[in-house]
Amino acid sequence: MTDQNGTIESHPLQNAESTETFPPSPDFVGQANLSDPSVYWRAAEDPETYWAEQAEQLHWRKPFTEILDWTNPPFAKWFADGELNVAENCLDRHVAAGLGDRIAIHFEGEPGDSRSISYAELTHEVKRAANMLTSLGVAAGDRVAIYMPMIPETIIAMLAVARLGAAHSVVFGGFSAESLRARIDDAEAELVITADGGYRKGRVSALKPTVDDALALHGGGSTAQRVLVVQRTENDVVMEPGRDLWWHEEITAFDGEHTPQGFPAENPLFILYTSGTTGKPKGILHTSGGYLTQASTTHRNVFDLKPDTDVYWCTADIGWITGHSYVVYGPLANGATQVIYEGTPETPDWGRWWSIIQKYGVTIFYTAPTAIRACMKVGRQVPEQYDLSSIRLLGSVGEPINPEAWRWYHEVIGGGRAPIVDTWWQTETGALMISPLPGITALKPGSAQTPLPGISAAVLTEEGEPVKRGQGGLLVIQRPWPSMVRGIWGDPQRFIDTYWSKFGDQYFAGDGARLDEDGDIWLLGRVDDVMNVSGHRLSTAEIESALVEHHAVAESAVVGADDETTGQAVVAFVILKSQQTLLDPEDAEVELKKHVAAQIGAIARPRQVFIVNELPKTRSGKIMRRLLKDAAEGREVGDTTTLADTAVMQTISDRVRRERAAK
Ligand code: WTA
Repeated sequence: MTDQNGTIESHPLQNAESTETFPPSPDFVGQANLSDPSVYWRAAEDPETYWAEQAEQLHWRKPFTEILDWTNPPFAKWFADGELNVAENCLDRHVAAGLGDRIAIHFEGEPGDSRSISYAELTHEVKRAANMLTSLGVAAGDRVAIYMPMIPETIIAMLAVARLGAAHSVVFGGFSAESLRARIDDAEAELVITADGGYRKGRVSALKPTVDDALALHGGGSTAQRVLVVQRTENDVVMEPGRDLWWHEEITAFDGEHTPQGFPAENPLFILYTSGTTGKPKGILHTSGGYLTQASTTHRNVFDLKPDTDVYWCTADIGWITGHSYVVYGPLANGATQVIYEGTPETPDWGRWWSIIQKYGVTIFYTAPTAIRACMKVGRQVPEQYDLSSIRLLGSVGEPINPEAWRWYHEVIGGGRAPIVDTWWQTETGALMISPLPGITALKPGSAQTPLPGISAAVLTEEGEPVKRGQGGLLVIQRPWPSMVRGIWGDPQRFIDTYWSKFGDQYFAGDGARLDEDGDIWLLGRVDDVMNVSGHRLSTAEIESALVEHHAVAESAVVGADDETTGQAVVAFVILKSQQTLLDPEDAEVELKKHVAAQIGAIARPRQVFIVNELPKTRSGKIMRRLLKDAAEGREVGDTTTLADTAVMQTISDRVRRERAAK
């Protein structure tokens, strides 16, 4: 609920006038982990005590006495004098509680192989892996890069690194050699854990050769000295003696005895790179105690988790924050049983996800709007062939979910009964921040609605004034939260400039938002030069700099244009160097798309590349991306009066229109 000054704390049951709402059913409320709205008020009165109570549900090797230290903003410390072992919290303590036989992971490989791994087995494997990593010299304070497919060993590797008090940097398997190398070197990782390959779209997608290429780039000289390779696909790989080791060969030397040590709550747990507004990705740093507290609390409350009966499935890849917080740390800290699936939803056909839900009796399903829209396009007759009656709760993340997709998801996948939690958060926030609570909130399709208990958000004008209900502005988080980003790896100034220079000690998220008449929050997308393609963050600047690295490109401008399936799509405008011989303009589109995919990764491949003679610029030489976006989306181009040459935009929009018409 929003008080007079625009601060959004929390609210009880919603009662919207204009929007259709879906109040929780009495059955759901009756069994919900949280059904009493007073949780919001209690947390708002004393958020630090609220978070301390949540933190106490973890196992601390040395209990904390301090809660929040905000004496040096924006560098927060939570529970700083406490010590814990994150892996022990996700593994050993469940085994010690007698839950060793509970399944932690149902793994479904894309070719159809499957493996179910109990908490006892997972604990055993992580202990062995921790011993193996110790023998390779990994110790507290080190960084380990992980470049893996979606297989259990990826989770084992992450937890083994965490168990030793070292930090992992997981790099999404779709990133190129260049991107991987930049991330390895920025974090100064000494070890890379990878696999020969993974299965995707019915084929082997090799990973190890990309690691080889990455380490050979720029004449070698990477910080990484060792590469540990998991065997998954048995494709031919070259093993460099003295540098490369097979995981399955090394691990045989190690047993499953390993005593976890406590590390300070502020010990780094991981670095995860994400796109910013410049070409260089930001290494978002997360630490241990606060992160695990908020990841586990939100997983329990927002997904209404019943660890002894639920089968939970989050489809996110481990290379993104959602995979970190809601595949690895949140669910395992809570002792959940979950599904992980290696491949793509359309392999061998679009029934794959639904067949997995049927096979394991998945009860909680968490995915992204872009995937829901893709399934919608294929049609409801596909999911309707499967028994999805086990589903009792659905989640959405990554971008605003359009009401049409929300309704389809609710009706076709959720059988009209499962509530949908639309969860807003970011790599930087570490865990869920704004979301309905399914036993309390009357849902509004398309809105993430309410800050979770213990979180305070507001929507401000450019000048920092709270907006009134019914108005839009910029989303900020007003008070520090336990799983907040602790910094940008190696660049404290960029951390301050990016998030904390606009509104002082309030965190500026980079998203636009609107408050409705009830005070609910509707997210409106990024307000900076960050695109959201299929729920993945991409920076216009990063793609532009990849384009100009091509020998034939003189200049480029990239925009995110609306796209029916992927939310936004990358559209590039490129000026070629004058020597036409460098690249035939006829071939340029195909060639430059390939080039971007090779430079950054397939996720960054532009949907369209337009070769133009000029770009629209202001008199001071700034590219007017807003106008290019208008053209790319087929709209009437906006105000061009500030352009140095007003004819440029006319030429470009004519071009775009012709090509759209031709398609
Ligand atoms: C967007 C993903 C609307 C938003 C967890 C944010 C959303 C960015 C939602 C973070 C949502 C994420 N509704 N927008 N429910 N969830 N976003 O770091 O623009 O990959 O700033 O984290 O995704 O993307 P990131």
